[in-house]
Amino acid sequence: MVSTATNIAQKKFDNCIMNASGVWCSDENELTELDRSEASSFVTKSGTLQPRKGNPQPRYFPTSLGSINSMGLPNQGLDYYLEVVNRLQQRKPHKNYFVSCTGFNVQEDISLLKKVAVSGFTGVVELNLSCPNVPGKPQTGYDFETVDNILKTVFKSYKGPLGVKLPPYFDIVHFNQMAQILNKYPLAYVNSVNSIGNGLYIDDTQEQVVIKPKNGFGGIGGDYIKPTALANVHAFYQRLNPDIQIIGTGGIKNGRDIFEHILCGASMVQVGTALMKEGPDIFARLTRELKAIMRDKGYEKIADFKGKLQYIE
Ligand code: FUM
Repeated sequence: MVSTATNIAQKKFDNCIMNASGVWCSDENELTELDRSEASSFVTKSGTLQPRKGNPQPRYFPTSLGSINSMGLPNQGLDYYLEVVNRLQQRKPHKNYFVSCTGFNVQEDISLLKKVAVSGFTGVVELNLSCPNVPGKPQTGYDFETVDNILKTVFKSYKGPLGVKLPPYFDIVHFNQMAQILNKYPLAYVNSVNSIGNGLYIDDTQEQVVIKPKNGFGGIGGDYIKPTALANVHAFYQRLNPDIQIIGTGGIKNGRDIFEHILCGASMVQVGTALMKEGPDIFARLTRELKAIMRDKGYEKIADFKGKLQYIE
């Protein structure tokens, strides 16, 4: 029997495939659809202290190789997501869910996590340190000192399981420096990667950008980013304490992409652009495709190949 079950933060998931925050998770309807799909879990859109409308439209554009977006963190506010998830959790006590949140400074992060604790949420928190799309706000994950300070402050008071969503890094020195910081804290996981920030996709016939915010600059997802995602997953798998697991996100649209993320060290994978294109039925297809690959290779569980990427001697 082939199983795609996994665990994150000592919690069991009967499948290692779920959505990426930002896709199909902005309200109760979408979250309920994910809950009914073959995804083992879901993560909410990153909740902020106050609800946000986000950036002006058009702010998402699908391309033949992926997508570009500059959503600007439109969300219903963290209170809303906690209420919805806690309600779904009561109906399905055996399941485990993720709530994503993001503050605009460390004090906001603390306030958000207090809300999580007070709400009685029993799942896993994903602190988003990597949104590239809020005008005038740089991506926190590229400011190493701030990441260190946030984690130091957050872990003084928040005791539940917590992971971080990171931007992609592109330099070995940065993998080393970030891993050194992350290893100081009792993180449940790191999620690599968020979109590659501030790409530019243009329509050459119109001689125009395709999204309105930031004059067309936006986060890139899909096929374009899989090699970068795999590199980040593997670089952190090599460098992080084994207690810190990896969630692999970036460029997943078929079973082979999932197999590759797990081979690089991911314990769970998240699907963004392809979920946006195909809808929640994608999880049944992806699960089928991953199981077929595992069966062909004689693997029964993901531990049989997780992190076992071979190098050329
Ligand atoms: O613009 C956005 O809402 C994207 C958020 C993210 O990539 O984390």
